[in-house]
Amino acid sequence: MPPIFEELLERFHANLACVDNDLVADEVARIGWDMPARPLEPRALACLGHLDRIAELAPADAKPLARFVADHRDELRWGQTYSAADFGHGFIESYGWLEVFGTRGHFVNGEVAGGLVILGPNIVYPDHHHIAEEIYIPLTGGTEWRMGEGSFHVRDAGEVIHHASNVSHAMRTGKEPLMALYLWRGGPLAQKSTIGPMIDLRGRG
Ligand SMILES: [Fe+2]
Repeated sequence: MPPIFEELLERFHANLACVDNDLVADEVARIGWDMPARPLEPRALACLGHLDRIAELAPADAKPLARFVADHRDELRWGQTYSAADFGHGFIESYGWLEVFGTRGHFVNGEVAGGLVILGPNIVYPDHHHIAEEIYIPLTGGTEWRMGEGSFHVRDAGEVIHHASNVSHAMRTGKEPLMALYLWRGGPLAQKSTIGPMIDLRGRG
């Protein structure tokens, strides 16, 4: 296993370890960080063109991870769960994720998935939901986030955004791209999200 993947995992862990938040601290403590590596062929995506700007925008505590990922983008396996049929071609050109660990990422973990998601500027990631509980920490600010029936709010880099199981959520980038760190637990870790707001059928007979 080349040391780049070990370093990726270390930097990801280090980034989470400096987040001052109880939910994140509990999650970091629960994760078994000694994970087996999974050999994967690299795969590039169009959205990787935003990585240099993302590394510039990332604040000091997120910059080591953002810069490392930008420098090693061509050695990593980037993925997409959606296709152009879901949100259009513009979305697919601007969106992608890197699973650091999980059921398909660079390290094997069947309990929790962790990675990074990229969205280019002026992109709407419409309402969607999934069974897994999710923590997001944006590494760049300026994106608007919405959860449940709420309205969109701009979130700064380093804020902690928690989506409980099956709560719908959406993101809307502004003039700058987004990179956000994510953790998924408690559901199928490679499940494609269900598009559209969550419809609560309880109490409707
Ligand atoms: Fe999500």
